[in-house]
Amino acid sequence: MRAYKGIRSLVKEIEATKRQGKTIGFVPTMGCLHDGHLSLIRKARRDADCVVVSIFVNPAQFGPNEDLKKYPRDIKRDLGLLRASGVDIVFAPGIKSLYPDKFSTYVDVGDLTSGLCGASRPGHFRGVATIVVKLFNIIKPGIAYFGQKDAQQAILIKKMVHDLNMDVKIKIMPIIREKDGLAMSSRNKYLSSQERKKALSLNRSLESAKDLYKKGERDSYKIIKKMQGMIPQNNGTKIDYIDVVDIEDLKSVKRISGKTLVALAVKVGKTRLIDNTILGG
Ligand code: PAJ
Repeated sequence: MRAYKGIRSLVKEIEATKRQGKTIGFVPTMGCLHDGHLSLIRKARRDADCVVVSIFVNPAQFGPNEDLKKYPRDIKRDLGLLRASGVDIVFAPGIKSLYPDKFSTYVDVGDLTSGLCGASRPGHFRGVATIVVKLFNIIKPGIAYFGQKDAQQAILIKKMVHDLNMDVKIKIMPIIREKDGLAMSSRNKYLSSQERKKALSLNRSLESAKDLYKKGERDSYKIIKKMQGMIPQNNGTKIDYIDVVDIEDLKSVKRISGKTLVALAVKVGKTRLIDNTILGG
């Protein structure tokens, strides 16, 4: 495994890899790796000749009052996990390499970024889209892997790649959960043991949405009501949103007919958690 901080030496190796006719599978991350990240890497390992992982806590996707400074970082541990997973190349640049002084170009995916997480995190997806384009341009992968955990992110990356005729295939992989159902996230580290218990209500509410759907319920309002009732809104737990949206345009639907995303964000103490499930289709 080779680790690079600088762009130039990385690009040289990427070009050499491409000259050998090898396919590149790419997994972008912000580090503090867990089994969710590793599931994407394992898939890339199965699909591609050369697996590239980036670790970069992207300042452009954090709002002014968000957790950029305290976002968990543990590069030593990450490198150990990546080596053990058979990764070929790690790209872990400093901020100045990707955002030099006078950087001024951003990618805006439009409508898909306005609802769900975009509503409470203005500018977040502009930051995500911008860094992903930059990383794709540097690494030039044939396939890139994203998690269903960040459903809106995955959907808008697919849209961006389509709209901008980018030559990369996007694969979206299922949500990996802890044994008790909590979706794995680097931010779970922030939770106290009491908060962690409360956090289980996110997945439980999604399970009950699935249950209702299986029993024939198609009315989004009733599903959302039931979910709201399952998330204890006290002692610092606050629902940011629960929404039932079309899987392609992310617009709210009143009745579930096609493939539908049920997504939620809940603030548990100071930690904002997201989770989702897909119904129908
Ligand atoms: P990060 O939160 O580190 O996640 C990196 C990738 O891992 C994303 O595609 C995310 O959806 C996936 N992932 C996270 N938790 C997962 C889980 N429990 N199961 C399956 N996949 C999971 O998402 C980002 O970083 C950034 O926005 C990034 C795309 C790297 C751009 O900065």
